[in-house]
Parts: sequence; structure tokens; C-alpha cells
Amino acid sequence: MTEESITIFLADANATRRLGITLGQILDPGNVILLSGDLGSGKTTLVQGIAEGLGITEPIVSPTFTLINEYLAGKLPLYHLDLYRLQPKEVTNLNLESYWEGVDFELGIVAIEWAERLEYKPPNYLQFCLKYQDNGDAAKGKLLPPARQVEIFSVDLSQTNNINALLKNQGFTTSS
Ligand SMILES: Nc1ncnc2c1ncn2[C@@H]1O[C@H](COP(=O)(O)OP(=O)(O)OP(=O)(O)O)[C@@H](O)[C@H]1O
Ligand SMILES: [Mg+2]
Repeated sequence: MTEESITIFLADANATRRLGITLGQILDPGNVILLSGDLGSGKTTLVQGIAEGLGITEPIVSPTFTLINEYLAGKLPLYHLDLYRLQPKEVTNLNLESYWEGVDFELGIVAIEWAERLEYKPPNYLQFCLKYQDNGDAAKGKLLPPARQVEIFSVDLSQTNNINALLKNQGFTTSS
């Protein structure tokens, strides 16, 4: 079945990380991952999983102050950006396209937190929108911290379908 986007329930931080690992294993050079969602919704955790899936062993720390962290020791380079502190005009001045065009930098995976701050988007990207989600039945009568839900959208419909099939295969709870 063809779907526009995929919605996945992420019961805990480990589920977020596991989703990242799965993605890190299948992403192609030049893939751009746009991450959006409220403070603390799990963006960095997902990137940590992607790094693990790429075979990067260095710890992935949020580039809130450094803006861009580059990890070059994995299967593909990982460029991790966080736009939280920037105004849209400042983002435009960064010339981020040099990361996904592969001219000045070796093509790799570009993961951008707070991608809402982008005034223009790359021609192709995978979007992850993370949201807080209650734990449903599991939380009944208990004080469980909130889980998360992620909606995944790709400009390339065949990539959405491939990811959907892969995640179902790996036991993720997908709903569309
Ligand atoms: N599916 C999940 N369920 C519950 N907690 C989660 C889940 N995924 C991640 N977390 C936890 O949420 C907290 C915040 O995660 P993280 O730092 O990845 O969020 P973030 O979106 O990058 O935050 P920021 O907006 O500050 O960049 C961490 O403690 C992490 O372990
Ligand atoms: Mg973060």
C-alpha cells in the first residue's frame, strides 16, 4: 500500500534509538534528515541511533553551541546540525546546501535539529516530526513518563514505502 507518511509509536528512549539505528543502516550518501518537534522530544536521541547504525562509536553530543558537529569515522560522514539558537536569516547565511550538494564536503548524512528554522529545504529530504505521546494503557494507574510518536515523511514516495516495509519488518508499531 502506498502511504504519504508513516507514524510510529516510540515507547521509550531505546525505541527512538533503535529507530535511528535501523535508519543509519539503510540511508544513502546525500540523505538529509530534517528533525522537528518540541524541546526534549527526542531529536538528538534519534541522531545518536543513526550514528550507531553508521558504525560511529564517538559519543554524539548536541551541537547546540557548536552548531555543526562532523563525524567522519563511520560508514558515511555524519553532519549533525542544531538550528535552535538561530534566526531564519542567520540559517540562510550558513550555506547549508554545501553539505547536501557534496561540493565542499564529502556526501554523507545531514541531520538537522530544529529544521523548522530552515527558510528553504533541500530538493530531497526525510522529515521526522517528534511529538510527546501518553503511554496509553501501559500508563493506567501508574505514573509513567510520556512516550513519543514520530511522523516520517519523505519527498521520495518510494523511500517512504521502503522505510515503512523495513520498520514493519523490524517490529515497529506503524500506523498511517
Ligand atoms: N520515545 C521516548 N520516550 C520517552 N523518552 C524519550 C524517548 N525518546 C527520547 N527520550 C528522552 O527524552 C529526553 C530528551 O531527548 P533528546 O535530547 O533526544 O531531545 P531533543 O529533541 O534533542 O531535545 P532538544 O529540543 O533540547 O534538542 C532524553 O532524556 C531522552 O532519553
Ligand atoms: Mg537535541
